[in-house]
Amino acid sequence: MKIAILGTGSLARLYGAVFEADHPLMVGRQLGRYQLIERDDTQSWHVPRFQRWEDPAPGPWQVVLIAVKWPGMPLARQWLERWVQAETYVVTLLNGMGQEQALVPPLTMSQLSPAVTTDAAFRSDNPAQDIWRVSIKDHGTVRLTETSHANEQTLKQQAASLNLCWEWHQSDYMLRLRWTKLIANSVINPLSALSGQPNGTLLQLPLWRLAEPLCLEAENVAQSVGVSLNGTLKWVADLALSTASNRSSMLQDVLSHQPSEIESITGYIVRQANQAGIPVPTHQAILHLIHLL
Ligand SMILES: NC(=O)c1ccc[n+]([C@@H]2O[C@H](COP(=O)([O-])OP(=O)(O)OC[C@H]3O[C@@H](n4cnc5c(N)ncnc54)[C@H](OP(=O)(O)O)[C@@H]3O)[C@@H](O)[C@H]2O)c1
Repeated sequence: MKIAILGTGSLARLYGAVFEADHPLMVGRQLGRYQLIERDDTQSWHVPRFQRWEDPAPGPWQVVLIAVKWPGMPLARQWLERWVQAETYVVTLLNGMGQEQALVPPLTMSQLSPAVTTDAAFRSDNPAQDIWRVSIKDHGTVRLTETSHANEQTLKQQAASLNLCWEWHQSDYMLRLRWTKLIANSVINPLSALSGQPNGTLLQLPLWRLAEPLCLEAENVAQSVGVSLNGTLKWVADLALSTASNRSSMLQDVLSHQPSEIESITGYIVRQANQAGIPVPTHQAILHLIHLL
């Protein structure tokens, strides 16, 4: 399978190792030989076939996995414009929503498969010392949107031969799953980033009073695109408690002075709400506060 992975971070390294036999091209800003540390502490070394964004990458590519954070999407889009053909099947693994708006065109809907992963990985690098490392925190499931693209079959066969927990679902199911995850992210991520607290502590904070209006406003927006969700507040609270010691990715971004993914989470909800004429004052306030932060 001729595969490229856009991104060189935690998830990109995980899937770079998973598909190592296919010699994936990994595209990004920098990456060296990296160490992968499993949950049981077993360690392996991987030598990526690495290229920078601006380097030529003539295909034909059968499969492209996009594993950048949201601020890297413009570069990913430019790369796709240059190097992707109609026969390429493109999977996005980013959190948040807006992948279709960001990537179609240059892609067509039938070649784009937005996916949701419960794999969890965390990188700890020291580029000055040429140290690149990723620790696997959890092996979960990757759920992908079925598109009937010809090379979807290629990836399915490869995932089956590698015994991966990769599942393809119809677009209605995936849209609901993505909205459910979006609502959870739109509560837990910004509230943890604003408070500096891990997920489990959030429920004890006065700030948690925002969780209910955040859920209700987002449910209204989901309804406007045909996704009927209710009772998400309880689900989000249970999720925060079941991941009590986790620091959300947005809190980690803030602590490491990196741009956050707020534009594909709260920003997406606000943009959709504006289009549909639905008031989302709590999300607007949160968006403003995270931008200030
Ligand atoms: N890690 C997980 O366990 C996990 C689980 C589920 C979903 N996700 C989602 O998967 C996506 C990737 O996450 P990750 O954990 O792999 O992130 P990560 O380790 O921070 O890696 C992000 C990648 O995006 C690139 N990037 C970020 N901003 C960029 C910019 N402005 N221009 C160019 N490149 C940029 C980074 O490049 P540099 O390295 O050069 O900065 C890196 O290659 C995110 O949407 C995340 O929310 C992650």
